Formats: sequence, structure tokens, C-alpha cells
Amino acid sequence: AFLIAVDTGDDDGWTAEDSLAELASLADTAGAEVVGAEWQNRRHVDPNWYLGKGKAHELLEAKRETGFTMLIADDELSPKQQKALEELLPVKVLDRSGLILDIFAQHARTHEGRLQVELAQLEYQLPRLTRMWTHLSRTGGGIGTRGPGETQLETDRRLIGKRVKLLRSRLARVTVSRGVQSRNRRRAEVRMVALVGYTNAGKTTLFNRMTGSGGYAADQLFATLDTTLRKVHVPGAAPIVLSDTVGFIRDLPHDLVAAFRATLAEAADADLVLHVIDGASEHRDEQVAAVDGVLAEIGAADVPQIRVLNKADLTDIPTGVERDGCGTISSVRLSAISGDGCVSLRSALAERFPVAAVLRHDSDEYEQLSRDVRDAPLRTA
Ligand code: GTP
Repeated sequence: AFLIAVDTGDDDGWTAEDSLAELASLADTAGAEVVGAEWQNRRHVDPNWYLGKGKAHELLEAKRETGFTMLIADDELSPKQQKALEELLPVKVLDRSGLILDIFAQHARTHEGRLQVELAQLEYQLPRLTRMWTHLSRTGGGIGTRGPGETQLETDRRLIGKRVKLLRSRLARVTVSRGVQSRNRRRAEVRMVALVGYTNAGKTTLFNRMTGSGGYAADQLFATLDTTLRKVHVPGAAPIVLSDTVGFIRDLPHDLVAAFRATLAEAADADLVLHVIDGASEHRDEQVAAVDGVLAEIGAADVPQIRVLNKADLTDIPTGVERDGCGTISSVRLSAISGDGCVSLRSALAERFPVAAVLRHDSDEYEQLSRDVRDAPLRTA
């Protein structure tokens, strides 16, 4: 694969070079071998070619030199740009969203995960399909091409539309049963803690460390796609269930966030979000902002959050906790891989969910406590 990017000079904290490095690891995760990359400084992307026309044509030379068979653009391409580049080179042309969707498709394991990815892929293809065929029927011209072209378009659209509807209703059923499960957990007074974080921040490693399980942690983006739930035992704390879920990334395709709403809802439903951050990454702040952006999009912005600054072993900052102005633990620095500082995270959880604070609403103690509060004489100064 050959990668291309345009640097429009946006002050978003990412240079084209860094962004391309991230795209390269995405491509690697998808199973492509990256043979080269090119970027261009431009105020805007070219509406026809994405890169400037001259630069786009230079890709022919790069193709001769490296023999790439796939071109991946760092931004979302319009169907027009995609088609122009495909015809020029001709190789398969993908964009960041298409690549992320492909990775998700490869990693989805559960029934629900697969339904969600397929839905997102179809939603992504639908507008592209439409415009591609419209374009064909206009330029193709001539007797015989136009009719069948449009008929084919109608058929494809109808079939995809039907499939999308079917997937939506299946997903709705899965979502209902997830809702029942989460209500049952709530009735049992279990505290739900959701691990979220930028892809590769170390969520799965931390999850395994906290739960003592041997899940799959890999130096790959999006190794985790489906939500895993497991009980954690923290001395002095109420029963806690920890969930490990899909990693976030900047420019997560919108269709994907929409399709994964049910999976991500685990975070919106949680009593506490543990936001795992790669504390050693030079893009730490941008990654934090990207994750907070997705949390807001799925309605989890108001869930209490503790930031977990992971990979402390790669920095020389000591592990430990930080408190906000009110004395509440706001962040914990640790190393999931060595276990250093993990005890601070456990005590943060115990502090947040002390066992005494959890009384079943139907328990005798709760009844007694309510009566005491109700009947207590009002004290006046
Ligand atoms: P996604 O599945 O992409 O969301 O990733 P994740 O956030 O679950 O990350 P994962 O736990 O798979 O870890 C990613 C990489 O970071 C792996 O190579 C881990 O070994 C490494 N890693 C995790 N925690 C630490 C740590 O504390 N220190 C160091 N040095 N590496 C770590």
C-alpha cells in the first residue's frame, strides 16, 4: 500500500507526518504492507484529485518504483476523488474510514459486533454506490447503457436498503437484551466501571491486570472490538464489573460510531469511566481530546471519570494518584504491564465505591436508615 495525505495546516496538533504514521499502523493492522508515503502542503484538498493534479500524477512514478497495488488516503475521499485516482493509477483506492471499517470487519467476533460492522459498511457504501452509478449513467451514455445502469443502481440500493433494515431490527433486539442484563446488574447493586481509551492505550492489558484474566492484548490497533465484562474484586469496595470495549481513534467514521452505539453505550451506562491514556505518547493530549469527543457523542460526557495515565514505565514520572480541588481522585498514573501503581487504582475504586455505601433498596438496613433519616428531629442552630 502507498499512503497519501494533505497537510492543510490545521492547528489540530497532528502534522501530516504523524498522521501518516498512525495511518501506517492502521494499514499494518489491516494486513497491508506499506511501501511508501507522500504528503503535500495545500490550503484545501483538491476536489477532483485530493492531492494537487500534478502531485496525483506523480503517483504513477511512485507506482513504477514501489509496485504498490493499493492507495490509502489519510482523509475521507469523495466518491469523485476516489474514482479519479482509481482510474488514473489504476489500483484499489481506500480512505481512512474505509480502512478502519475493514479492520473492524476483520476483528468483529460476536454476533452483535458483526451486525454492527456490516451495518456501518453498508451505510458507508450507500452514498458512494449511488453517486458512482449516477456518474456512470451520465457519462457512459448511449443506448443500452443508461437503462440497465439505472436499473442496476435501483436494485443495488433496494437490496442494501433491505439489508440495512434487517440489520437494524436484529441489532435492536440485541440492544433490548443488553438493557435487561444491565438492569439486572443494577438491581444486584453492582458498580459498572467502563474502560475507554484511544486505541493502543493499554486498556486490555489493564483489564487483564485488574481482573487476573488472560485476554488478548496486542500491539495492534483495535485488537479489542467486542465488549468483555468481568468482575473485579477490590477489597473494601462494592462488587465491581469492569468492561473492556472497542478503542477510540481520531476521525472514527461517523457511521461506525452510530452502529457501535450499543457497544459504546456500556460507557454511557457506567457508574464510572476509567479513561486509559498512553501517558508516554507525544500525542497524549490530542488522543485524550479525541476520546472525550466520542464520549460526548455517545452521551457519556457526564459519567464520572478517572484518568489512568498508563505506560508509566516508559516515562520517569512516578506512579500514584492525583486529586482535584475537592480531594477526589482525578487521575492515577501506573504501568499496566509491570503492575506498578495498580494498587493505587484499586484504592481509588474502593474510595469511589466504598462497600458501606451500597445498601440494597429492599434490604432491612436500608428501610431502617430511611426511617431514621425521616424521623430524626430537625436541628436548628
Ligand atoms: P485496542 O485493542 O487497540 O483498543 O488496544 P488496547 O488499548 O486494549 O491496548 P493493549 O492492552 O492491547 O496494549 C497495546 C500495547 O501497549 C501492547 O503492546 C501492550 O503490551 C502495550 N502496553 C500496555 N500497557 C503498557 C504499559 O504499562 N507499559 C508499556 N511499556 N507497554 C504497555
